Amino acid sequence: FGGITANLGAVGLGAESGGNWRRVIIEKPFGKDVDSAKTLNRELHENLSEHQIYRIDHYLGKETVQNIMVFRFANGFIEPLWNRHHIDHVQITVAESVGVEHRGAYYEEAGALRDMIPNHLLVLLGFVAMEPPNSFESQAVREEINKVLDAIQPLAPEQVLTHAVRGQYGEGTTPGGEQVPAYRSSPAVDPASRTETFAALKVQMDNWRWAGVPFYMRTGKRLPAQYTEIAIQFKKAPLTMFKDTATETVNPDMLVLRIQPDEGIQMSFGAKIPGPSMRVGTVNMDFCYADYFGNKPATGYETLIYDCMSGDATLYKHADTVEKGWEIVQSVMDVWSALPPRDFPNYAAGTWGPEAAGALLRNDKRRWRRIKTPQP
Ligand code: BG6
Repeated sequence: FGGITANLGAVGLGAESGGNWRRVIIEKPFGKDVDSAKTLNRELHENLSEHQIYRIDHYLGKETVQNIMVFRFANGFIEPLWNRHHIDHVQITVAESVGVEHRGAYYEEAGALRDMIPNHLLVLLGFVAMEPPNSFESQAVREEINKVLDAIQPLAPEQVLTHAVRGQYGEGTTPGGEQVPAYRSSPAVDPASRTETFAALKVQMDNWRWAGVPFYMRTGKRLPAQYTEIAIQFKKAPLTMFKDTATETVNPDMLVLRIQPDEGIQMSFGAKIPGPSMRVGTVNMDFCYADYFGNKPATGYETLIYDCMSGDATLYKHADTVEKGWEIVQSVMDVWSALPPRDFPNYAAGTWGPEAAGALLRNDKRRWRRIKTPQP
């Protein structure tokens, strides 16, 4: 990207003159770690001003991602609950049922962590955790997202062992019943590859709103579903009034923001099961986008390219945001490369990742939300 923008600059295509604009959209990877991201930003800035650089992250263009802001800031009822007093923890899942397909050469260098977490998953986390911006102007929104990233405590090397999990899929069966080969048998992949196709991370934030509230993230290829969601688990009621009933076995109250597919918002809570005895069961209130707005399939890119043409950078990434994203995962990358995995492949295609991903939450007396898998 540095070379391309240098050449654009050399032939005068970077210069904005006579009231005309010149903008360059840049797709990830924005480097592969903190240092290379800084180098790339420096190279870009040699020929372009920051306001001309549009770093695209297609998750920011997804309607449901933008709706997180609307849900939180256009509705008075939710904001008072949106903090450490009421929220126990947050789970972000970006699951893909596809394998690495024909991108083996790129993926071997990247892996699940680099490919997804510093960019897409942190975008989702940023929208969930940000403070209300003063306006929806690009600078105001970007500043709040950057504050969230600044507040995330980077993991110390010894914490990486307990707060981060990696996995690689072996052969297995998709939910549709198809037998699929292991990652190591994919085109352009080393048959002894140590690249991870699954990554999970627990992070915490040093700020008043979120102190003590863990955010768990997981993403991977060849999982049982193609599905992205954010699940916000609320704290239990302070008093277990119905303790002599079946209440304690009821699932905790949960708000699920379904990003894709089947976009919507679901609230799960306890309700009395009709009958003479007091029994409490979990019920769901469910809003589906399709019911109200129809189905408008979009990847996110459509919105973003239009925004760039109209000069709106709100949903694009500033140089700082990219560098901060890398800073959060740098210690994980360092420890993982210093200690190559010995147990790969450690999950079968068509399952929810390695056993250690479950243990990450079990150690905190929590568990991943059970996500429905498509039936064959
Ligand atoms: C890309 C990653 O940025 O996002 C891919 O490089 C991944 O590996 C894709 O499959 C996921 O995007 P979406 O929109 O399908 O969730």
